[in-house]
Amino acid sequence: MRKLLLIVTGGIAAYKALELVRLATKAGYGVTAVLTKAGAQFVTPLSLQALTGSKVYQELFSLTDESEMGHIELSRAADLVVVAPATADILAKMTAGLADDLASTLLLATDKPVLVAPAMNVRMWEHAATQANMATLAKRGVLVVPPDEGPMACGEYGPGRLTEPPAILAAIKAFFADGPLKGLHAIVTSGPTHEPIDPVRYLANRSSGKQGHAIAAALAALGARVTLVSGPVNVRDPAGVRMVRVETAREMRDAVRAALPADIAVCAAAVADWRVEEAGQKIKKDGSGQPPALRLTENPDILAEISQPAPSRPRLVIGFAAETEKLAEHAAAKRARKGCDWLVANDVGGTGIMGGDENEILLLTPNGSEAWDKMDKTALARKLAARIGEFFA
Ligand code: C5P
Repeated sequence: MRKLLLIVTGGIAAYKALELVRLATKAGYGVTAVLTKAGAQFVTPLSLQALTGSKVYQELFSLTDESEMGHIELSRAADLVVVAPATADILAKMTAGLADDLASTLLLATDKPVLVAPAMNVRMWEHAATQANMATLAKRGVLVVPPDEGPMACGEYGPGRLTEPPAILAAIKAFFADGPLKGLHAIVTSGPTHEPIDPVRYLANRSSGKQGHAIAAALAALGARVTLVSGPVNVRDPAGVRMVRVETAREMRDAVRAALPADIAVCAAAVADWRVEEAGQKIKKDGSGQPPALRLTENPDILAEISQPAPSRPRLVIGFAAETEKLAEHAAAKRARKGCDWLVANDVGGTGIMGGDENEILLLTPNGSEAWDKMDKTALARKLAARIGEFFA
């Protein structure tokens, strides 16, 4: 039986932890709960105990707890540590490495993977401190189930609500997914890049990130450990993947390099081929009627770079090609030019594919090309992930 160590911290969303325990035990997980002092203001140890069927741990220095099971032992016995809800306070403690109660000490001492489901007021969530903490935690490999957007108990509206327990359970399941990609690391790039023109303007494209994000989720569901490097998008972070957020092509290249080694790379991002050579002060109208000239310079080609023969080259590199004409011909040329193994080509010429919910592709592999029927981007992602699974079988 997979064992979860559930840390419940203080917030009005703590009541949802009870539902999470109910769903998780029903799904066959063993759950041991740790309740912080603040958490105990919102749910009682008794309810957690009744639902987990085991003792609830609250004190760092409790003689009985230490003799029965020390905090090191508590995390040693778990396969995954889940913090739900995770308050701004516990996230800050995790980032700083503070250990002043049982929950924070456990989180500092554990060598087990940690998944957090943040919940807090929208301003606290959007505060630069919390966002910086989230970025640091993600970099350290902490898995995040992002909060939902909606009305909050405090009367405000925005992102910060604890996501619903079924979504947290889905992230837990994705973590334990035992599929053909178990033990493999996949890097997926997704979304557009933003290339600054000046401090307020940028060059971008219509990529929504829907296809890349769906591929990341589908690979995770087959057991892969996934790093998703995403440009600015409005789609939800997929459950159970490590997120790295970037803006420019150069940041994306650096993030991809930092995430290596990997077994699989799927470059689904619509990376800007060009950036403005010198993005200086805000460009102003000077009254001369002469529009300013933008000098462009080439961006690094992430797909071509990662496809280069090198000891760190992923075994399977998949590129995307957004074309508006002569799909098969351009795609084949691109596959050769970039040096990737497979190429997913789609016609984006006025069909609403870029940014839309459906996709129709041509898959080029060393064995030839296949036209896939038009389908939902999620379905396409699952089909592609299954093919990747066959490749590694
Ligand atoms: O050359 P083009 O941009 O059409 O190639 C598309 C493919 O190359 C996509 O897989 C995209 O993710 C990747 N690409 C990249 N870095 C760039 C440009 C494109 O990884 N700078």
